[in-house]
Amino acid sequence: MSQNKAPKNNVFYRNQNWHYPKIEKGEGIYLFDDKGNRYLDACSGSAVANIGHGNEAVAAYTAQQMKRIAFTHLSRWTVDTIEACAERVSQWTPGDLNYVYFVSGGSEATETAMKMARQYYVERDGQGTSKWKVISKWNAFHGNTLGSLSMTGITERRKIYDPMLVNFPKIPQFYHYRNPWGCGTLEETSIKAAEALEQEIIRQGAQNIAAFITEAVVGAACPGAHPTKTYFEMVREICNKYDILLIVDEVMSGFGRTGEKFGIDHFGIIPDIMTVAKGMSCGYTPIGAAVANEEVFQTIMVKGTGQFIHGHTYAGNPLSCGVADFVMNLVEEKGYVANATAQGEYLMEKLKGLYQYPIVGEIRGKGLMTGIEFVKNQATKEPFAVGDNVKGKITANGMAEGIIVYPGGGSVDGARGDHILIAPPINITKEQVDELADALERTIKFTCEQAL
Ligand SMILES: Cc1ncc(COP(=O)(O)O)c(C=O)c1O
Repeated sequence: MSQNKAPKNNVFYRNQNWHYPKIEKGEGIYLFDDKGNRYLDACSGSAVANIGHGNEAVAAYTAQQMKRIAFTHLSRWTVDTIEACAERVSQWTPGDLNYVYFVSGGSEATETAMKMARQYYVERDGQGTSKWKVISKWNAFHGNTLGSLSMTGITERRKIYDPMLVNFPKIPQFYHYRNPWGCGTLEETSIKAAEALEQEIIRQGAQNIAAFITEAVVGAACPGAHPTKTYFEMVREICNKYDILLIVDEVMSGFGRTGEKFGIDHFGIIPDIMTVAKGMSCGYTPIGAAVANEEVFQTIMVKGTGQFIHGHTYAGNPLSCGVADFVMNLVEEKGYVANATAQGEYLMEKLKGLYQYPIVGEIRGKGLMTGIEFVKNQATKEPFAVGDNVKGKITANGMAEGIIVYPGGGSVDGARGDHILIAPPINITKEQVDELADALERTIKFTCEQAL
């Protein structure tokens, strides 16, 4: 039954059970509401506002680009901002990931990658190819449109729509803390998780599989979880062996968030298609992309029909492309990727002190993409009951302490499991990390007293 706490107006809000403070403005890593409260945005919205809020230079650039040319349709025209943005993305992405198919957000990016993989095999092998399935994982998030949700492994998000989803195969995540194999080290979990891919390919028949999709560092579903290098080395080899495209979803972990340009750069392999969004424009405009390698691009666009049967009205919007290019340039010039490494290490060091609170089960992550998982019992890893709503308590208590975290749940069994994502803007200073860590500690201390 709805609690009807959302403001009474014409907005169809996402959650009627949430009281929505009204934000007046954003400045740097802070948001300010109409009651004069200041919040430290410790999750950048959802790992989006990576250069912080209210950037004057971006605002000035946007105004002049909007006056010059705001919209053209990519089916007919090209514009210098579109070309420059694609060139810059291709410079950021590793290896031969050189061809940028623009969309407006993360779900569109993964949906595009999925269709691109299918069309690649149709172009290469003919319409009769049986390669279409995409293997994905439980405890992974790839978006909420029906195609991307079919690849998403979060039960709560799938349940209602289940009859409408494509029945793609799912394998376990490299979620070492609760790995199903009884592995004692992250390396062992990584190996088992990669072996699970090969087993599933054999079970399904490689002739039916078009792609495997994985995040490099996990976001909303199991924040901060990552494997060792061995996982990606094995996955790359398995995909090559069975003729399957590897899609790496960098929608959250891309553009410096993890202290490298992309999450996958920690692991030294190159996917066939990479999906990006969020940090590409840091929230100053909606944009995303599926970035294809030479083989995929050449097969569809040069040797093949030359037409990717897909597309959205706002794809390759010259305003959005200009803004994203401007923002990426700013991240480069200011050295924010290196800052994410430095402040990420400092933050992780500080967060380790939180293990003194018995509800803190695991703290994990890379750079400024950090997750904290909460448990009822540190020794047994017993999760809280769903009704305890620990993630909700942490969120509300955090707001009272002036800090915004990104809650999530269900990683234990689809229902239980409470966690938060800590992903502040990557231009955060050391002093601001101290402020974040202090506010988070007060939040967790208080929640611990409430929950146990
Ligand atoms: C890894 C990943 N993929 C896809 C998406 C979906 O992106 P969007 O919400 O922009 O559709 C997200 C969003 O959080 C994400 O983290």
